[in-house]
Amino acid sequence: MTHSRIAGIGHYVPDNIYTNEDLAKFMDTSDEWIQERTGIKERRFATKHEETTATLGARASRIAIERAGTTAEEIDFIIFATLSPDYYFPGSGVILQRELGITKTEIGALDVRNQCSGFIYALSVADQFIKSGMYKNILVVGAEMHSSGLEFNTRGRGVSVIFGDGAGAVVLQPTDEAGKGILNSELHSDGTNAEMLSLLSPGSHGGYHHDDKEQFGFPDKDQLGEIFVTQKIVDDGFLYPHMDGKSVFKKAVVKFPEVITSSLAAVGKTPADIDMLIPHQANLRISQFVQKVLKLNDDQVFNNIQKYGNTTAASIPIALSEAWEQGKIKDNDLVCLAAFGSGFTWGSVVISW
Ligand code: ACO
Repeated sequence: MTHSRIAGIGHYVPDNIYTNEDLAKFMDTSDEWIQERTGIKERRFATKHEETTATLGARASRIAIERAGTTAEEIDFIIFATLSPDYYFPGSGVILQRELGITKTEIGALDVRNQCSGFIYALSVADQFIKSGMYKNILVVGAEMHSSGLEFNTRGRGVSVIFGDGAGAVVLQPTDEAGKGILNSELHSDGTNAEMLSLLSPGSHGGYHHDDKEQFGFPDKDQLGEIFVTQKIVDDGFLYPHMDGKSVFKKAVVKFPEVITSSLAAVGKTPADIDMLIPHQANLRISQFVQKVLKLNDDQVFNNIQKYGNTTAASIPIALSEAWEQGKIKDNDLVCLAAFGSGFTWGSVVISW
């Protein structure tokens, strides 16, 4: 039976390093507070007006494509995961296609909006396309330019110190080698508390999901007028991400171990069999908690949030690429990718490398 395998992988992070001390110049925060709560020491921010989410994705993609021994013209489908797209629409997949100069083949491009678990969802979708025989050379990208939409002042400090910019990409191809490649993927969601980790506007909600409709400054129901963005939405910061950090933490530390254990069990494995776990780099404390619950040693878990912050959809492919470049992932290793994030959505992919 045909499986899909990662034929090439690459990542790109912008050159500009912002330490915790650098952020403390813009808001009331400290290196100690940020490191203690999140493990983050520094993050990268893209150069405004010169880089975008799609251009970051393109840089990672070129590396992955070259390492896969293929060319951009031979890519037959694009899947792009991000929560910080170049435009509200069209999606960044088509912008990436243009950036890579894929103009003649008119291949499909799909955008995935599953935030922190976006790359897991994208990889799982790509895996199904390969297994069905529909495509043979899929480019899967996770990229974020958070710095374009964070509030760098004391009001936004609970969120803005956590996120960073970057991109990772893989090329997925079929293999008939038994027991190799993607062995299993599992996807979950629970929309009960969808607003706990969210960016509410611009959007069509018009206050519908909220008890206090006044808070957004929308015009009356019968009055024609914009609800996408109002002056109050701008003034009150609804254009910025909102996070109930404690609730996210509590749910994440349950769902991460649950989905990892269950997707491994589906292929007859247990956490002890993992050679490398690449958790979404949400927060070092979450990763450490998950490591402890699953009884994994330090060599079995890869973390790089200390250097890059949380890059949401990009964090898994960046970490996977870096671990691979450092020789920490070898042929036949059992690699487990897992994510939890906004939605809430979560999932896991098990790979025999
Ligand atoms: N610097 C200094 N003080 C801050 C900062 C900051 N950057 N941010 C918030 N504070 C203050 C708050 O104002 C508050 O002050 P107060 O007590 O005077 O009101 C105090 O610190 C505590 O704030 P909390 O929000 O309660 O801080 P908490 O201890 O919960 O830590 C954190 C916040 C790190 C976000 C934590 O809740 C957490 O780890 N949550 C997990 C969620 C997460 O990591 N999300 C990542 C993105 S989502 C994802 O990828 C899944």
